[in-house]
Amino acid sequence: GKVRAPTHIISTISDDRGEEPCYAGVPMSSIVEKGYGVGDVISLLWFKRSLPRYCTHFIEICIMLCADHGPCVSGAHNTIVTARAGKDLVSSLVSGLLTIGPRFGGAIDDAARYFKDAYDRGLTPYEFVEGMKKKGIRVPGIGHRIKRGDNRDKRVELLQRFARTHFPSVKYMEYAVQVETYTLSKASNLVLNVDGAIGSLFLDLLAGSGMFTKQEIDEIVEIGYLNGLFVLARSIGLIGHTFDQKRLKQPLYRHPWEDVLYTK
Ligand code: ACO
Ligand code: LMR
Repeated sequence: GKVRAPTHIISTISDDRGEEPCYAGVPMSSIVEKGYGVGDVISLLWFKRSLPRYCTHFIEICIMLCADHGPCVSGAHNTIVTARAGKDLVSSLVSGLLTIGPRFGGAIDDAARYFKDAYDRGLTPYEFVEGMKKKGIRVPGIGHRIKRGDNRDKRVELLQRFARTHFPSVKYMEYAVQVETYTLSKASNLVLNVDGAIGSLFLDLLAGSGMFTKQEIDEIVEIGYLNGLFVLARSIGLIGHTFDQKRLKQPLYRHPWEDVLYTK
């Protein structure tokens, strides 16, 4: 019989050897003919399956809503400074992307992990939040620099409204809302932020779609797929900021002395 030479790479998401490339077995022509969108492509390449339309629509809404949040946030600031230092598109983009992490945009996976664990263990919001405080861990998905209880994040509201209308169940989101009610009773900046909204709602998407086994959901949450949504989305805005600075022929940025507290 044939002896298969051992390979150095295993790949399961795409194949370019045939007449046309395939994403998770779906040929490019079907993707175009069926009018698939970027949400479908993400479903195929990240989750290795076609997801129902309400799920791919939700993914697309996350991408659109997180594409940009103005020039003052960490990512855009880095990108703007880098572009103004005369660097190229890729350098300006990655300089912004590198700020995405536990405080900024990259709290989605941890929000999903902690909310899932707390909900599945039946913790009350009080037990969950106070338990985190005892461990000295800020609740991922809670808190914002400028949003407040009386000035909520519109993106969160839009995501919640979509899910309440289209998802079969929003139990994790409702839990996150209960957590927010408790944290808001402690301080007005402790709102459910967009990372927390996406993290909890994606748990509902995974659990409610009937497309994933429990083991697959655990794996997705453990590996941490969901920060990818913010990374992908915000790349759109960061690329825009790079072009904007180049178009405006902005000079090298230097931070004003007056805005630095020089002290010993
Ligand atoms: N959980 C519990 N307590 C909190 C939290 C939280 N998530 N966030 C703030 N606090 C409390 C703490 O008591 C904090 O005091 P400490 O510094 O002694 O811990 C106090 O509020 C004041 O916190 P600040 O540092 O002034 O809040 P800031 O406005 O700087 O922080 C931030 C905003 C970074 C978003 C913060 O709330 C946080 O770390 N949240 C968790 C991570 C997260 O979800 N990030 C995503 C934000 S959305 C986005 O980036 C797209
Ligand atoms: C963002 O999406 O960049 C923001 O939520 C962060 C911020 O501070 O506005």
